[in-house]
Amino acid sequence: MDWMSGKLNELSTLSSKVLNEKSQKVRRSIDEIYKPNRQESIIQEPIMQQSVIPESIIPESIIEQPVIPDNLVLVALARSGTSLCLINLLLTNNQLSIRALVRSKEAASKLKEKYRDQFDIVIADFLDPTKLNEAMKHVKSVFHNGPPLHPKEYDMAVAMIDAAQKNDVEHFVYCSVAHPQLEQMITHQVKSRIEQYLIESKLNYTILQPMPFFENNNLKQIIHQQCLYLPYSPDIRMSWVSRDDVAEVVAKVLWEKDKHFRATYELCGPDHISYRDVVQLVSKQTGKLIDIQQISIEEAFKDFPVDEECKNKDYTILAFHRRFNYYNRVGLTGNSNILSWLLERRPTNWIDYILASS
Ligand SMILES: NC(=O)c1ccc[n+]([C@@H]2O[C@H](COP(=O)([O-])OP(=O)(O)OC[C@H]3O[C@@H](n4cnc5c(N)ncnc54)[C@H](OP(=O)(O)O)[C@@H]3O)[C@@H](O)[C@H]2O)c1
Repeated sequence: MDWMSGKLNELSTLSSKVLNEKSQKVRRSIDEIYKPNRQESIIQEPIMQQSVIPESIIPESIIEQPVIPDNLVLVALARSGTSLCLINLLLTNNQLSIRALVRSKEAASKLKEKYRDQFDIVIADFLDPTKLNEAMKHVKSVFHNGPPLHPKEYDMAVAMIDAAQKNDVEHFVYCSVAHPQLEQMITHQVKSRIEQYLIESKLNYTILQPMPFFENNNLKQIIHQQCLYLPYSPDIRMSWVSRDDVAEVVAKVLWEKDKHFRATYELCGPDHISYRDVVQLVSKQTGKLIDIQQISIEEAFKDFPVDEECKNKDYTILAFHRRFNYYNRVGLTGNSNILSWLLERRPTNWIDYILASS
């Protein structure tokens, strides 16, 4: 009997030691996986260490499961203007865990420089299904906005939607554009086809359709030069929207999730005015007279911040021309009711933007 109870004690000590080690190893492997400053593009599955004790005799309460955030949102094109505003809002509110998706090591290190270890960063080619699949592991919601004027924008969105489907993503939020049905603008056609693909994917989606952003206008520079250079008529009306307002809507839609499933929201600012009206407002607020000079679309393209890999692509040049030809004839306008309802306040207008930027 003494021999028996000695052996039982020995076994019990051994069990506690092994369980303790097992628990620590699992904890370590969880920390490895979810360490937010990891810059690798590959997300590994938790490595469960082998134990000498069969799993069946370990009480369930002792086996630690990897801590997987149940509210992980993948923010694609994480360094785009909209995504950066969104990330700032999500960090302030702290309700969702962020995984940022970027295309290169350079983009990842710029994000890391700014945000340190506040979230996970994943690098992936947006056309590579394997990499996107890894990026989507454990993701509950996705925010996707495609690279502007990129010839592969459609293919990238399709690859993102397919990967989201494969990984049972619960909510796919897509930043499209106002009036994607306008066939004469190639970029609108592309977004319309993406919307269709997303709707038919049967994912829970929310489609956001913003007007052009105020932030595309470098007001500081315009005020400094006292001149606005424009590749279309200064008398055509537009309904610009604030990028911060758009990001606020994206955050709200992600937080409130199912309330916005299957919804499509047009996001327009409250002003329905031309650039001639805008420069008058700027002059009134700053006391400086601002001239307007209409330039050719070719000239405007030279200074337009188009990504290097697209600069010489026929698609990009044609899409740019079509856009400004269209603006020149018709403009782009809409109604701000939906945006006011979503924000539960008056959306930012030109005067707010001028006051904030001058
Ligand atoms: N700007 C507007 O007024 C406006 C209005 C309505 C809708 N939208 C839509 O919103 C989307 C984003 O526009 P934005 O103006 O916010 O963009 P943005 O600030 O100019 O940022 C563009 C981003 O695209 C990324 N990118 C470029 N080529 C890429 C590639 N091959 N693979 C992965 N990423 C790539 C860049 O990544 P890096 O960080 O690596 O350089 C950069 O972060 C576009 O689809 C646009 O049509 C824009």
